[in-house]
Amino acid sequence: MSMAPSVVSAGFDVEKIREDFPVLKQTIHGKPLVYLDSAATAQKPFAVIEAIRKFHEVDCANIHRGVHELSQRSTAAYEETRVKAKRFLNARSKNEIVFVRGATEGINLVASTWGRKNVKEGDEIVISALEHHSNIVPWQMLCEEKSAKLRVIPMNDRGELILEEYEKLLGPRTRMVAFGHVSNALGTVNPARQIIEMAHRAGALALVDGAQAAPHMKIDVQALDADFYTFSGHKVFGPTGIGVLYGRTKLLLAMPPYQGGGDMIRTVTFEKTTYNDVPYKFEAGTPNIAGGIGLGAALDYVTHLGLDRIAAYEHELLAYGTEALSQIPGLRMIGTARDKAAVLSFVIDGIHPHDIGTVLDRMGIAVRTGHHCAQPVMDWFHIPATTRASLAFYNTRAELDALAEGLRRVKEVFG
Ligand SMILES: Cc1ncc(COP(=O)(O)O)c(C=O)c1O
Repeated sequence: MSMAPSVVSAGFDVEKIREDFPVLKQTIHGKPLVYLDSAATAQKPFAVIEAIRKFHEVDCANIHRGVHELSQRSTAAYEETRVKAKRFLNARSKNEIVFVRGATEGINLVASTWGRKNVKEGDEIVISALEHHSNIVPWQMLCEEKSAKLRVIPMNDRGELILEEYEKLLGPRTRMVAFGHVSNALGTVNPARQIIEMAHRAGALALVDGAQAAPHMKIDVQALDADFYTFSGHKVFGPTGIGVLYGRTKLLLAMPPYQGGGDMIRTVTFEKTTYNDVPYKFEAGTPNIAGGIGLGAALDYVTHLGLDRIAAYEHELLAYGTEALSQIPGLRMIGTARDKAAVLSFVIDGIHPHDIGTVLDRMGIAVRTGHHCAQPVMDWFHIPATTRASLAFYNTRAELDALAEGLRRVKEVFG
């Protein structure tokens, strides 16, 4: 099979971009690494690695509490990321940016602070059939505690949410609609603006789980009119253990704190504690300072590349990969939404995804196999698992050719 040229979009020099990612240069089992698991975690450019190294080597100090030079420097660098995140999401103020460990913590924070205060017996929370466990379980826990009801927007055979059914779920008891912007298991891009508008019309709030959207498309929380939006740093080419929760100022002000401890207080006596301003009220204890600084470098990196260019390039890559995989007999794509991003999830007749993943690994190809923390999605399609190749802007057509070749080999081995 002939290798297709790597550079598919004018002006998007993928080979040059790959030079920024040291991890991609290695061989695995003697073969060049083909990394197709960016939805699980994305690889990190030198700029991120260097920002973290510089913090530890030159500026290392705790933040918000020292008058000395190192503390001032690290505080400035950490807080600069809040400003970068504000720009990245187009929030109105940097004070709408709460640092969390990742999307999981962002959702848990809202469920346990806003949720505990506002959700009462008989109220309803709406999620969708496409959710990652992290946008199911926190709401389930809240509903259990409050005797509230969890309702689920169904999807069709392509993996698209059925908005007519969603409309029917909305009512006077709906308090929150929480949904993924992009599905990690299927790649479906949900019509976020419309879903939020419908939630608002019913008098509910809307939280968007942007874990799989932030690496692939431009996010504008004001244009979306989102009440909450969360994403994980490690999926946008930053470090693990850091993420962002955007919340509308008025909501953050009214929410009780998440955890108690240092930094989130204004005054403490044994009789009474008063809390710090937002967003610091939600950031108890020493945060992931190095992670925050690394995330700033990652946001700079993708912003510099341009999210619109990234989206255009990945769109072509996805179309190429979909076509290449459609040539493989017995392969069925799971998730064929008309609006899709960066995910090729599939099953092959008679071959377990775990076996597929194992054979591909011997060829240097890293894919994810399993339920992708979205068991209800698998149940809906009546399958236990899929093989998922997930893309980033550093992937190439040649790598998708390698995947298709690898799957032919899998079929020979298990045929
Ligand atoms: C759609 C979606 N939401 C939430 C998460 C949770 O992200 P994290 O584990 O970084 O908190 C993931 C992770 O895969 C995801 O894909």
